[in-house]
Amino acid sequence: IPPAVLVIGSLNMDLSVRTSRLPSPGETVQGGQLRMAPGGKGANQATAARLLGCPVSIVGAVGDDDHGASLTAAAQRHGIDTSHVSIMPETATGSALIAIDDRGENTIIVSPGANARLLPSHVLKAEDLFADAAVLCLSLEIPMPTVQAAARTGKTQGTTVILNLSPYTEVPQDLLRDTDILLVNRHEASNLLKHPLPEHPDWNTVQQEFRRLGLPRAIVTLGPQGAAVLDSTGEGRPVIVEPVPVEAIDTTGCGDAFFGAIASRLAAGTTLQEAAVFAVRAAALAATREGTQTSYPTLVQVLSQDIPSAPGSPT
Ligand code: RIB
Ligand code: NA
Repeated sequence: IPPAVLVIGSLNMDLSVRTSRLPSPGETVQGGQLRMAPGGKGANQATAARLLGCPVSIVGAVGDDDHGASLTAAAQRHGIDTSHVSIMPETATGSALIAIDDRGENTIIVSPGANARLLPSHVLKAEDLFADAAVLCLSLEIPMPTVQAAARTGKTQGTTVILNLSPYTEVPQDLLRDTDILLVNRHEASNLLKHPLPEHPDWNTVQQEFRRLGLPRAIVTLGPQGAAVLDSTGEGRPVIVEPVPVEAIDTTGCGDAFFGAIASRLAAGTTLQEAAVFAVRAAALAATREGTQTSYPTLVQVLSQDIPSAPGSPT
């Protein structure tokens, strides 16, 4: 069997509504039709990696309700191993309230529900999954001690530990030490580095700053500007991956598409830079389609470069 991707993270039911503009505090705005679809950063990453052709397992928690059953079934339909998705009695499944505006930008409120009850003990019970996993994907919609236990176990077992600081929160030193590759967007990078990132950062300096935090390998995703690969192991020069210009319809979950794509390519044995070039394409494709998991591309779609370009952009 090919090397697998292990995701330890959240599963949410996403409740999304489009609106021409996002409401300000105290304001009510009219929206479009309510859409309900599987989401959660963990499940999204797992789905993205699975569609790109690699074996995937997820360790997570859902409630004993209809949403939980349908999230688990959706993951299974994709061929994701859900044998370590726990059903928490008398707990609601995680939900996300998502508003998307005309420009495809979104705001999200997450109600963690069962995700908050995923414990370090669940990670230890899933220890057999680490043996087959080349890559471990972590983000921050589950309790911090659980993320720490997962990273520790991954590190000990020789799995490549990738940490996405999303949604952003302060993280303990030992978690950064156990992280092999950090994945952040601009906003998360500036929070971690404790200063705003200029429009055109000196990536050498940023790379050194990450290195000082014990993070020799990081990727900063830049949305429509592509991504910066900051790898001070090996060659050591920062590399900017050019964006693929597309007309963004809905960017919800594009970060997770990027993450899943990175994981699947690294599991297949590519370099970090090759994985980033591929992931920029996968995330761009996801932005051109409605929804989160429903917008994620397959391996064939990414490789066929069948990417609709933005009006006015060179073809
Ligand atoms: O990253 C997108 C995801 O964030 C959504 O699917 C939602 O569930 C929230 O977790
Ligand atoms: Na999308």
